[in-house]
Amino acid sequence: MKREMIVVLDFGGQYNQLIARRVRECSVYCEVHPYNMDLEQLKGLEPKGIIFTGGPNSVYGEDSPLCDPEVFQLGVPILGICYGSQLMAHLLGGRVATAPVSEYGKTEVEVDNGTALFHGVSPKTICWMSHTDYIEKAPEDFTITAHTPVCPVAGMEAPSRKLYAVQFHPEVMHTQEGMKMLHNFVIDICGCKGDWKMDSFVETSIRALREEVGSGKVLCALSGGVDSSVAAVLLSKAVGKQLTCVFVDHGLLRKNEGDEVEAVFGPDGPYDLNFIRVNAQERFYSKLAGVTEPEQKRKIIGEEFIRVFEEVADQIGAVDYLVQGTIYPDVIESGLGKSAVIKSHHNVGGLPDHVKFKEIIEPLRLLFKDEVRKAGLELGIPEYLVYRQPFPGPGLGIRIIGEVTAEKVKIVQEADAIYREEVAKAGVQGLAQYFAALSNMRSVGCMGDERTYDYAVVLRAVLTSDFMTAEAARLPWDVLGKVTNRIVNEVKGVNRVLYDCTSKPPATVELE
Ligand code: XMP
Repeated sequence: MKREMIVVLDFGGQYNQLIARRVRECSVYCEVHPYNMDLEQLKGLEPKGIIFTGGPNSVYGEDSPLCDPEVFQLGVPILGICYGSQLMAHLLGGRVATAPVSEYGKTEVEVDNGTALFHGVSPKTICWMSHTDYIEKAPEDFTITAHTPVCPVAGMEAPSRKLYAVQFHPEVMHTQEGMKMLHNFVIDICGCKGDWKMDSFVETSIRALREEVGSGKVLCALSGGVDSSVAAVLLSKAVGKQLTCVFVDHGLLRKNEGDEVEAVFGPDGPYDLNFIRVNAQERFYSKLAGVTEPEQKRKIIGEEFIRVFEEVADQIGAVDYLVQGTIYPDVIESGLGKSAVIKSHHNVGGLPDHVKFKEIIEPLRLLFKDEVRKAGLELGIPEYLVYRQPFPGPGLGIRIIGEVTAEKVKIVQEADAIYREEVAKAGVQGLAQYFAALSNMRSVGCMGDERTYDYAVVLRAVLTSDFMTAEAARLPWDVLGKVTNRIVNEVKGVNRVLYDCTSKPPATVELE
């Protein structure tokens, strides 16, 4: 059965991924492709609809991204957003000009809700605008469907040609009825049924993976994070014992984490896979002895990880496939080559250069993070693993300031476990990430009648959706008080607890 698909053509807008996610929220599969994608290739995808994204350019700019005008002849419904709407006007004989005033932010837009795109939308609705140019005159056969006092053509359409355009951004949350508009486009105008569901994804993937792998041998570096866990279980359901998962315990994991991962993926867990846990704690601690510089720590941990993995892979012998937990945002970012450069992280992405294998399998390369989580639940992975907060590859190695020692790791593990337990108990919602770190500061305190000279633990909690910027969460004082009390009483070697109030920037999320 052919899967129905909407194609987003990316003109460099900052919300390209968001559009795809919103379409998938309508249970319709969606892919993002570059604006200059070959027309034959586009046709080959048999899209049920096409969406043009916004973008930073003006249609009159020298290097402005243009699409093949033939795309309008395909008979496939097209929705142009922001730059995409201006491009549609420009290529079809309308007129685009610099607006007398730029519109930016939440704006009241008057829409004609007798149209298919705005069906069910209030006649005056708040939308998110962000533009300098605007459509001054719609092309001949288009009707104007929306306007603002500044923008004469905030929406236009030629339904007989299945062409629709909006100057604002329906995909961002600030457009209060944007989801309704996208739903109207995808379901009513494009005629999609909306049958993209995680259970069908899981089923189809297992079948496809089984076919792809045949009788081959598959190797997976398992970190216990949600992506590698879901990838491993998918493969295990597909090829069972042909899969070997290697889990390197570098001694820098959270309290009990190694055992939790083993309980799920090891011999007593529900999955029938070969699971190898490498207890490499001592090896990592000795490499890290005396090292205080954070980048050097990262490098050592990354390299040692590869060495350990390589050694195990050598014992297993040549493998046919290496599994990677790449997800769709990574694919979009590297594939289109336009997005901001993200801090280079250490994770299993570094492996392929060093391990012998024939091919890479990326079973999650089409999923967004929330979809990976849904697939995980579908596969029966426990909720506490599926909803784990992000945890960096170098682990507690980058949550200890100064030299990393077994004693310090134990302190952070205990303090962090108490912190997580109390935050969960208090039911604090909406934190993107929170953890305890260990400062390198020791100070004088008094315990009973004794003088102490012990470490200060730092608590951090941040709110963010993309981790590129973040703000410190205002945790309730009584929760912080309880955590502080428990840490100084229960964790040996700590006599002070500090809270990090810094946003990112200027700080980072991790404390290294
Ligand atoms: P920073 O500290 O850069 O963190 O503000 C942003 C997000 O990235 C995570 N992080 C990492 N994740 N490998 C990872 O897989 C890494 O080396 C790494 N360093 C930071 C961090 O936990 C936060 O979620």
